[in-house]
Amino acid sequence: MKTKVCSLIAGVGMSLLLLGSCQQNKKEDIIADNFDFAEKQLTYAFSCIDEAYTNESEESRERREKRGWGELTNPRNIEPDGSLHLVPSRDWTSGFFPGELWYMYEYTKNDFWKEKAKKHTALIEREKFNGITHDMGFKMYCSYGNGYRLTNDENYKDILLQSAETLITRYKPNVGILRSWDHNKDKWQCPVIIDNMMNLELLFWAFRETNDSTYYNIAVNHAKVTMKNHFREDYSTYHVIDYDTITGEVLKKNTHQGYAHESAWSRGQAWGLYGYTMCYRETGLPEFLKQAQHIENYLFTHPNMPADLIPYWDFDAPEIPNEPRDASAAACIASALYELSLYDADKSARYKQLADTIIKNLTLHYRATLDRDKGFLLLHSTGSKPHNSEIDIPIVYADYYFLEALLRKMKLETTGKLF
Ligand code: GLY
Repeated sequence: MKTKVCSLIAGVGMSLLLLGSCQQNKKEDIIADNFDFAEKQLTYAFSCIDEAYTNESEESRERREKRGWGELTNPRNIEPDGSLHLVPSRDWTSGFFPGELWYMYEYTKNDFWKEKAKKHTALIEREKFNGITHDMGFKMYCSYGNGYRLTNDENYKDILLQSAETLITRYKPNVGILRSWDHNKDKWQCPVIIDNMMNLELLFWAFRETNDSTYYNIAVNHAKVTMKNHFREDYSTYHVIDYDTITGEVLKKNTHQGYAHESAWSRGQAWGLYGYTMCYRETGLPEFLKQAQHIENYLFTHPNMPADLIPYWDFDAPEIPNEPRDASAAACIASALYELSLYDADKSARYKQLADTIIKNLTLHYRATLDRDKGFLLLHSTGSKPHNSEIDIPIVYADYYFLEALLRKMKLETTGKLF
C-alpha cells in the first residue's frame, strides 16, 4: 500500500514537473505564447463587442440610419472615454477584425474561430459595391481574402472578384494610378496616398484567379507611378501625391496624417515597405525588390528609429523622444520583413532578425492586459496625430499585422516558405 501511495505521489510529482516545464516552454515560444494570449483576449473581445452594440448612442444610430451606412460591424479602437469604437462596414478598418479571426483559425485549426471569422466577415459584404474609396483591399482582402485562402468558399471568391471589379473603377489611365480619396475636393484634384499600395494585393489575386491582365496591368502601373512620384531621394515617402487627371502631372506633394509635407509619417513608410515587397512577390520585377530594400535601409539606418525598433508616429516628429509611438507601423514592418527575408539571400538573416526583435519588443512591452483593454492585443498605436485622433491607443490593424507577422515567423521557421 505504502509503495503504491509513494509511486502515486512520485507520478503526480512528475506530471506536475512536466506540466511546469511544458508551460515554461510555451512561455519561451513567443509564437505560442502570443496565440495563447490572443485566444483568451479575443474571446474576451466578443463580450466587449456585444456590450458596445447594446450601448450604441442614439446619436450614432441616427447618423448611421440617415446616411444609409448599415449596421455597426467590427471593432476599430478604444475611444478617449474608454469605450469600444465599432465601425460600420464602410470604415477602412472594418476588415481587420475578421482577418484576425481567420488568422486565429489558421493557427488553431479550431472551428470555433472559423465560425466567428465567418460571422464577422459576412458583416461587411456590402463593401464589394462601394466604389467611393480605394480601401477595398484593406477591407475585403484581409477578411474575405484570408477566408477564401483557408476555406475555398466559392461565395467568398465571387465577393472578392466583385470587390476587385469595383476597385478598378477608380483607375485613372492618363496618370496610371488608382485614385485614393474623394474627400477634400477643394484641396486635391486626384489624391493618391502611399497606403494605396496595400490595396494592390486584391488586384494581383484577381489576376491570378481570372487570368484577366487588366487587374495585373493596373496594379503594376500604380506601383510604378507611385515609385516614381511618392519617394524622395533618401527613399522616404510622401503621404499624399495629387495628380492632374488629364495630363498626369504631379500637382502637390502633401501629408495628411504625418507631421509635415516633407516629413516621413511612419505608417506610410510601413505601407511602402509591405507594398513593394508584395509587388515583388506577385510580379518578380527586380525594381520592386530594390524599392523595398531601399525603404528598409531608410528605416533601419534612421537616427530617429528607437532602440526597440517601434517607430515614433513620424520620423521627423519635433519632440522625439517625447512623441507617441506607432505599434501598428512596427507590426506591419515586421510582417513585411519576414517576407522580404525570402527574397534576398545575403540580407535574409538581417531582415529576419529585425522582425524578430520587433516581435519580441511588442510582446514584452506593448502587449495589452488580459481581460482588459477591450480585447485588443497591442497598445500604443497612433492613428492621426495632426487630427488629434487615436493617439497612443490600441487600434485594430496593429493586432492584425501582429498576428500575421507571428504566423509568417512560424511558417518561415518550420517550412521556410510563406505562400
Ligand atoms: N490608411 C489609413 C491609415 O493608415 O491611417
